[in-house]
Amino acid sequence: MPLIGVVGCQWGDEGKGKIIDVLANDMDLVARYQGGHNAGHTVVVKGEQSILHLIPSGILHENCRCLIGNGVVVSPAALREEIQFFEARGIKVRERLAISENAHLLLPYHAMLDQAQERLRGAGKIGTTGRGIGAAYGDKVMRQGIHVGDLRVKDLFAAKVRNALAYYKPIFAQILDTAPPDEDDLIEEVWREADILRPLITDGVALINDALDRNERVLAEGAQGLHLDIDFGTYPYVTSSNPSAGGICTGLGVGPTRITKIIGVVKAYSTRVGEGPFPTELIGTTGERLREAGNEYGATTGRPRRCGWFDAVAVRRAIQVSAIKEIVITKLDVLTGFDPLFYCDRYRLNGETTETFSFGADLVSRAKPQLEELPGWAEPLAEFKSRGELPANTRAYLDRIEKSLKASIIGVSTGAGREHMLLARPVLP
Ligand code: IMP
Repeated sequence: MPLIGVVGCQWGDEGKGKIIDVLANDMDLVARYQGGHNAGHTVVVKGEQSILHLIPSGILHENCRCLIGNGVVVSPAALREEIQFFEARGIKVRERLAISENAHLLLPYHAMLDQAQERLRGAGKIGTTGRGIGAAYGDKVMRQGIHVGDLRVKDLFAAKVRNALAYYKPIFAQILDTAPPDEDDLIEEVWREADILRPLITDGVALINDALDRNERVLAEGAQGLHLDIDFGTYPYVTSSNPSAGGICTGLGVGPTRITKIIGVVKAYSTRVGEGPFPTELIGTTGERLREAGNEYGATTGRPRRCGWFDAVAVRRAIQVSAIKEIVITKLDVLTGFDPLFYCDRYRLNGETTETFSFGADLVSRAKPQLEELPGWAEPLAEFKSRGELPANTRAYLDRIEKSLKASIIGVSTGAGREHMLLARPVLP
């Protein structure tokens, strides 16, 4: 012990990567529990900006080991590329990275399916990253997925690919009007891509539980956020895994009593990328100003993110689902110069006022945010050294968040750098 989970409380892109990067300094192991290379954590390595998609953020701290857990879907090509990218910049990746043998593979036909499905959905498209995430998790749930561990024995791996393609061939031909990849070419290509991954394949369940038994400090790294959760998000405009805290248990093979605490990461305003309801969305110049001020463009696809005011109703649902008592507020500095600010603590829905987030996309898209006006501030925040020294209106904004979420703010991020983090108290128990 301890095992600390870091989860997103909005629609992803809350800035979890930075928080994990700050915490990883004190961690022995960082384990990613869900998602795939749809996620993107922007990091600066030796002055160069680069993006981690699959490798846990702990890899930037040389004393920290990393695990890609069974709940992740792994593209061998994407992971190989990422390992080589960071190793070329002097980061020792393979010495410190392990991949759970029962993580599922995401193969090229999954991306083809994802993109074709989106085309077929027409106006009802989800706005996926096009990486094949839903198709890979779909195969897992339909019991025709292929495990990372299957990459160890070529004839077994080849048989599973042939089996999967036998299912997909008619679908590609008749529904998607395209040819699936050639079986033999695909088997050879993936086998080659997997050469550098093969030695990293391990029993992830034993690795993490043994580390906890040895009293090591372990961080469970989430991707995306609660409202993209397959069970609790604005379905069907969601991803295909569980970013909420429950995903830690199923995505790493640790029991719930192992979890010491969950830290929720909450951006000081709201953003969403892709389709789906977004009650506090700002359409027009204020939204565009927020996008530019916060550089709100997708780390994986470069798509402009939709921006909106802080939505406490949405975040409260995340706090409830993941039993979060402590939160970190990110990108507070971005709100400098927005005066007044608006804050949503309740919705109007079906003629009633509600403080509770509704279920599914249909109802949420009818919710009308009830906005409160709050005074903004003009001061840049990067130089402040503690929450108590912040401008009065900034402190009032944080107090408002704390009161409406009933969770303690343990950290506030006031800029992009590691040093721009005001911590109220040590995060580790
Ligand atoms: P998928 O995960 O590619 O299937 O995409 C499903 C939805 O989740 C889309 O709206 C994506 O834009 C969104 N999404 C997936 N990964 C991320 C992320 O890391 N940050 C923000 N949104 C994401």
